[in-house]
Amino acid sequence: HRHLLGIEGLLPQEIGSLLDLADTYVDQNRQTNKKKSVLSGRTQINLFFENSTRTQSSFELAGKRLGADVMNMSVASSSIKKGETLIDTAQTLNAMHPDLLCVRHGDSGAVALLARKVGCAVVNGGDGSHEHPTQALLDALTIRRRKGRLQGLTVAICGDILHSRVARSNILLLNTMGARVRVVAPPTLLPAGIDRMGVEVFHDMRKGLKDVDIVMMLRLQLERMNGSFVPSVREYFHLFGLDEAKLSAAKPDALIMHPGPMNRGVEIDSAVADDINRSVIREQVEMGVAVRMAVLDALSRNLPNTPYVNGAGS
Ligand code: CP
Repeated sequence: HRHLLGIEGLLPQEIGSLLDLADTYVDQNRQTNKKKSVLSGRTQINLFFENSTRTQSSFELAGKRLGADVMNMSVASSSIKKGETLIDTAQTLNAMHPDLLCVRHGDSGAVALLARKVGCAVVNGGDGSHEHPTQALLDALTIRRRKGRLQGLTVAICGDILHSRVARSNILLLNTMGARVRVVAPPTLLPAGIDRMGVEVFHDMRKGLKDVDIVMMLRLQLERMNGSFVPSVREYFHLFGLDEAKLSAAKPDALIMHPGPMNRGVEIDSAVADDINRSVIREQVEMGVAVRMAVLDALSRNLPNTPYVNGAGS
């Protein structure tokens, strides 16, 4: 079976064809009759070991709009709470013959491990600080529809890069598609070896945002900091929070993006987040449903350009 475990290893034409397919679903989703039957008769299970608003609900809507039978596995009330392991849980669900498993887990690599133990297509809905491929695809679709292209754009990804699977997947995708990527963060919130990922590194927002086309903000992931480095929120907002003053360094028509959930007043000022001309944060959510429809459709149909990473499956 083919899986979507990450952006790493995808070719530009694979990403491009997924975005093209997603584009058709954006139009479909804006119509009154949203239902298609391409996944009719298929079973999709969403298995989320970490909290989610956007990803889980959009995977559910995406599957339903394509006609699949969708089951949301509630981890909180499952036997995982009684000590069942990830692999035992996956194999238990696998015995019910799902066709698609959409999985989020707190550990990097956990979704790839699970993909090797089941007999169906697996989509990574975020694994630890490793990858969140459908987020990068929906961000790319949002940018491409607004700017008409990805190639040649300058994108600044700002904030808690260290803990961010969203940043990692976006860096990989944007580099593959020919955009220029900057990261803007305090040194303590950058992973070792970031300079080898093909990005320009900045520690100052005004310098990092100078003349960029896209400003992508990230949530400060305090829950992953384990007391090692917990910045003062006030100081963090002062230095790295996106407000009008810092944004004025970017191009006048720069887009403001945030994957959500947002912490207003921590990494982004409310006035900027709600800017009706430049903020595309709600549009990102809309693109999320379309992109997940495209991924589920492509994996189930085994299109020639179907993305795959660790494609051998079980
Ligand atoms: N962007 C994102 O993954 O949001 P959720 O955690 O709400 O799914």
